[in-house]
This record gives sequence, structure tokens and C-alpha cells, in this order.
Amino acid sequence: MTRTSLASRPDRFDHEAFRLGEPLMARLAHLATFTSTPGTSTPGTSTPGSLTRLFLTPAHRAAAEQVAAWMRDAGLRTEIDAIGNVVGRTHPDGDGRPVLLMGSHIDTVRQAGRYDGAFGVLAAVAALAELRDQGRTLPFAVEVIAFGDEEGVRFPVTMTGSRVVAGCFDPAALDAADADGVTLRDALTAFGGDPAGIPGLSRVGRPVLGYVEAHIEQGPVLEAQDLPLGIVTAIAGATRLRATVTGTAGHAGTVPMSMRHDALVAASGMVMAVEHVAANQRGLVATVGQMLVRPGAPNSIPGEVEFTVDIRAAEDAVRLGGIAAVQHAIRQVASERGVSVQCHPIHDAPAVACAPHLQAALQAAIEGLGVPPLHLASGAGHDAMMMARLCPVGMIFTRCWRGISHNPAESILATDAGLTVLALCAFLRAYAAAG
Ligand code: GLV
Ligand code: MN
Ligand code: MN
Repeated sequence: MTRTSLASRPDRFDHEAFRLGEPLMARLAHLATFTSTPGTSTPGTSTPGSLTRLFLTPAHRAAAEQVAAWMRDAGLRTEIDAIGNVVGRTHPDGDGRPVLLMGSHIDTVRQAGRYDGAFGVLAAVAALAELRDQGRTLPFAVEVIAFGDEEGVRFPVTMTGSRVVAGCFDPAALDAADADGVTLRDALTAFGGDPAGIPGLSRVGRPVLGYVEAHIEQGPVLEAQDLPLGIVTAIAGATRLRATVTGTAGHAGTVPMSMRHDALVAASGMVMAVEHVAANQRGLVATVGQMLVRPGAPNSIPGEVEFTVDIRAAEDAVRLGGIAAVQHAIRQVASERGVSVQCHPIHDAPAVACAPHLQAALQAAIEGLGVPPLHLASGAGHDAMMMARLCPVGMIFTRCWRGISHNPAESILATDAGLTVLALCAFLRAYAAAG
């Protein structure tokens, strides 16, 4: 990653960016130690330094407590709420002030990088600490939320934390179970949460000004443009399906090839068909990222396979067409292979536009740092998608190395991290001044 864009800005921003960026990077490095797969030799961890922190696990609890401690250091009134979100407030809850919500998530995918999600939470905390140190008070309250589940990796539900806050959580999701059969309800109780307290966390009907999320770009556009920051225009819609393929389990040594109904061979054809659909539709991406084979023995013909399909597009019509085409292709392979298949949606979120007034305010903040404004859409999903059901949303993206994310190689520059904090501070000051 080059530094030419930094060289073109006044020195005082470089200096400030280092001052704010270095401690933020140190916190992100520390938070990355709260993982279920520490070290380099744990079975299943193929890359040194990788991070796996799933919703409501002990690693999540430990990370939440650390984030709560940092929020308190920043002067925020802090709690871990009934769904496991960490919430830090500048003002007492319920004092009648309008509230600006900020934040992102602290759960991760398996073998994740350390910046996806956690960066946005800790950048917001750093911005509020900086304003406090400058003696600035805001006429509105700010709540930073570290959502506990954005990725939807452990349970077949996703963006649980932001759904609850946005008032669109379906209580039936409490019965969703992880791969070990533990329900979300039981995991939440073991975590120290409270299923009965969930409805009270909805901010619907409260004076919410908006939601602003900083996030690493997770794509290559900013780096290619040699820019540290960008303004998000919209977030692509996403649907996840769970397909269950049922064939006939049998003995791997005795059933002739011509007499088999192998669920995994059929599922393999389905994976190829999914790829074919997306590769032939402009603007559509589709991914099979998880597969479970039963009974799962080297000497048994697979009788049942479950797999997920993640389908995304910036245009909802393209995504909806893609879902229909993918399901049609999967059923066709099933009939050719003599197996049955059932497809259920487990996540469905339409594309979301970022509010023009928040885009304009974030643009002004970025331009004030001497950074040319670049507007770009997000292909990745974010908590902002759920928050958009509650209030106007805005997002700022930070350049990441080679656009790599969902990978331990995820990397950002300390100066870019610091510039993000400076941009959030400038945004908050201007927002306060605008009344
Ligand atoms: C979250 O990272 C998503 O885009 O699925
Ligand atoms: Mn992610
Ligand atoms: Mn994320």
C-alpha cells in the first residue's frame, strides 16, 4: 500500500492520524487475542494469528467486557444489554435528548481478520474520547454499540444485535440452534443475557437521529484510487438459503455406482450450478460457503448434505431473479440425480441506500482532512442494513490492504485508522453545530 495520498495532505493531519491511529491499532491487536482458536497449532487453525469469535461464546463475552472497559475509559455509561450488545452512552439513558447511534460488530467469521467490525466500534469510541479530551460537549447523546452478531456464523440467523435495536427481531429466532444443537435462547442465557429483556431494547419510537458506522472497505477500490477513506452510497442486498439434500446412505464398498443416490455428489453438482447462475448474471454474486455431510464417514455413502447459498446484488431485482434461478438449478440437479432437496431462506435483506444528508456530512468531514471524496457502494453486509429499518444510516469506509477481508491477512494502516477517527470527530462537531 502506498503512502502518496498521505504525502499530499498537510502535515498536521499526518501527525494527528498517527497520534490517534497507533493506540487504536494496539487495541485492535489486543482484542484479536479474544478468540476461540488462539495460537498457531490449534486443530482447525491453518493460519497463524487467525481469529474466530462467534456470537455468545466465552471469547465473545471476554471481548465484550474488554470493549465495555474501553468505553468506560472514554467516559461512556456502559452496559452489556440483554442480547449481548455492548452499549456506551455519552449521556444518561432516557434523559429525553435525541440520540445518534454509532458502532459496528465484534463477532467474526471463522479464521477472520481483526478489523472487520471491531474497527468501527473502537474508532467510534476513540472519536468520543478525543472530543471529550478536547472539552467538546454535544447537544445530542451518542450511543456506541458493539453488536454481538453481525456475521450469522454460529446460528442460522444474522445481524441479531442490530435487528433487536432496530425493533425487527423475530422471537422465533430464539429457537434457532447451532451445529451442536444449542439454541440461541440457551446460549444467550449462558452468556448472561436475558431473552425476556429483548423487546425492551428496541429503539422504535425513541428519538433516534441516525446511525453512523465506520468499517474497513473489504474490497480493493480505495487502495486502487490511493485514497484512505470513502463514503458509502448503498449496501448490496443479501439472501442466504439453506439447502438440505436427501439421498440414500449406504455401504461404500457394496453399492454399485449405478445404484447410488449419493447426496454429496448431487450437492457438488448443485454447487457448480449455483456458480454457473451467478457467473452468467451481471451484478450477481453467489457463494456456497458451508457444507455439512452426514453420516460423514469415509466408508459411508453420504445420505444427507446441508449447504448454504449466499446470494447478493446491489439491485434487488437482480438478487430476486438470482434466488429464483439458483433454486431452479438446484432442483434440476436433484431430479437428474434422483435425490430430494429442500431450500429455506435463513436471511433476506434488501439493498439499502445511505441517507443523502449523512453522505454529505461524511463527505464534508473527509474533505476537511484534505482527502478527495470518493463515493462507493458496499458489496458486504453491515449492521447498517438493519439500522436502516429504524433511522437514516451513513457509513464511512477505510482502505484495507489488497481489499482482503474475512481472512487473517486483513490489514490497514495506522494512519488510515487515525484519519477515520479524525473524520468521525469532524462529522460529530459539524453535526452538533448544525443543530
Ligand atoms: C458480512 O461480513 C457479510 O457481508 O456477510
Ligand atoms: Mn464480516
Ligand atoms: Mn463487518
